[in-house]
Amino acid sequence: MNTERLKQIENIIGEVINIELLNEQGWTSKVSRVQTETHTYLLKSAFTKRYRSWLVREAYVLETLQSTFLPVPTYYGFFEDEEGSHLIMSFEEGMTLRKAFSLAKTEQEKCKLMNSFGELIRKLHELPLNEPLRKSVPWLDGQLKQAEINLHEGGTDGNDVLLEKLHAEKPAPILETMIHGDCTMENVLVRDGKVETFIDVADLTIGDPRYDVALAVRRFTNHPQYIDAFYDGYQRLAISKEEYAYFDQGLYEFF
Ligand SMILES: Nc1ncnc2c1ncn2[C@@H]1O[C@H](COP(=O)(O)OP(=O)(O)OP(=O)(O)O)[C@@H](O)[C@H]1O
Ligand SMILES: [Mg+2]
Repeated sequence: MNTERLKQIENIIGEVINIELLNEQGWTSKVSRVQTETHTYLLKSAFTKRYRSWLVREAYVLETLQSTFLPVPTYYGFFEDEEGSHLIMSFEEGMTLRKAFSLAKTEQEKCKLMNSFGELIRKLHELPLNEPLRKSVPWLDGQLKQAEINLHEGGTDGNDVLLEKLHAEKPAPILETMIHGDCTMENVLVRDGKVETFIDVADLTIGDPRYDVALAVRRFTNHPQYIDAFYDGYQRLAISKEEYAYFDQGLYEFF
């Protein structure tokens, strides 16, 4: 790490004793564990224009959420240098739900995890709307616009025909809630067998709760027992097959 960046980090959290890259890295950032005498922090850095802009948003969302009861990491600070953008938050013990699920030995354990995932998402969907996090255009319109941009920039699985279909076949409107916006099993952390914390919150906003549900149960279409366990915890609307297809096999193909 260059000395200038280290200095910036120490301005925020005090003297650093150790920094190490995590074994589990995301796609769009570099994550490190940063140790001081008293605390452990998570440094999330991004280095390309697109991913840096996502990190700016994540910092804003995380800071905005500090005054709510939503379980997210504590925000400590954000800074930029010539090469990248850097967000410092609390290091949360635990492992991603993806990993916890793969380590679970019994069906019962797996169902318990999915039930707990449902409960955590219910908490989020029942929060009062946090207006500073609302986007300037209605959520689905914004997503379709972004899908088009991502399609033209390349690197997505979607195509023109699918995007046209998504425009033509929008699902019936639904009451908006707070949503995570990228609610996959990689983006929540499990501790003591419970899904406790949302991470990777750049897309957390006011939007369509069916998107979170679709991403949460994705890939489980052949395992109804996990979907049932999820809904036992979630306790809110169940999405239809068509809605699931619109969001998971449709919109999500562009992100
Ligand atoms: N606050 C935190 N405390 C502990 N571990 C964390 C924290 N935030 C992230 N991690 C770890 O770092 C990994 C990557 O984090 P994150 O999902 O935020 O990065 P990302 O690059 O945005 O991911 P992607 O683009 O793949 O969705 C997580 O899977 C998790 O293991
Ligand atoms: Mg992630």
